[in-house]
Amino acid sequence: MNLSGRTFDMHARNAIVIAEKPSAFDSKAIDEFVALVLVGGEVLAQGLRDRVLQAESIALLKKDDQLLGVAGLKRPTRSHRAQVFERSRTVLDAKEFLLELGWVYVVPIARGQGHSLPLCSAVVDAATGSGVFATSRVENHGMHRTLAQLGFDRVGREWPSQQNQGNLALFVRPDGA
Ligand SMILES: CC(C)(COP(=O)(O)OP(=O)(O)OC[C@H]1O[C@@H](n2cnc3c(N)ncnc32)[C@H](O)[C@@H]1OP(=O)(O)O)[C@@H](O)C(=O)NCCC(=O)NCCS
Repeated sequence: MNLSGRTFDMHARNAIVIAEKPSAFDSKAIDEFVALVLVGGEVLAQGLRDRVLQAESIALLKKDDQLLGVAGLKRPTRSHRAQVFERSRTVLDAKEFLLELGWVYVVPIARGQGHSLPLCSAVVDAATGSGVFATSRVENHGMHRTLAQLGFDRVGREWPSQQNQGNLALFVRPDGA
């Protein structure tokens, strides 16, 4: 495996973010990515591995070879995009936002250490020629902060999550932002 990962050193914790197309990772790394996404508990397990393999980019946050976090730049279906934009009642056109930032998860012991920005930034950087959207629970203020730092704006209205309790909000980052 020859990965040109982006490294960062935050709070002297020597963590590394490796972000690449899924095809650059070996099967074990993909399995670990999928397992950590499932720990997050916000996505359907069925078909997840295939969706991960079809992603534009995935990022793994590692320290001492231990997986501490994941994020992905997904290629959602047209129907999913249309449904999300419709539920938010935004006036924006889902056709402008072909990619979705998702599968964002940092293990509890590594939270609050500033890892989410480099982790998400590594995959959002791979978005060229399209806007990116993300959905986030309305009370997830830490994630909202990170999305804002990446150039995302909250748009439309919140709506009830189909997977979990609580409401979701739509965030968008136009192409070239
Ligand atoms: C959301 C999550 C990814 C954040 O990761 P993290 O590494 O702990 O977050 P960070 O330490 O990078 O903090 C991000 C920002 O939010 C701020 N923040 C953290 N918790 C906050 C809170 N409760 N209220 C307001 N701001 C908060 C931090 O100060 C930081 O802002 P700053 O850069 O201006 O200092 C992590 O909590 C997680 O995995 N949660 C469970 C899964 C999840 O919710 N995923 C997102 C789905 S959209």
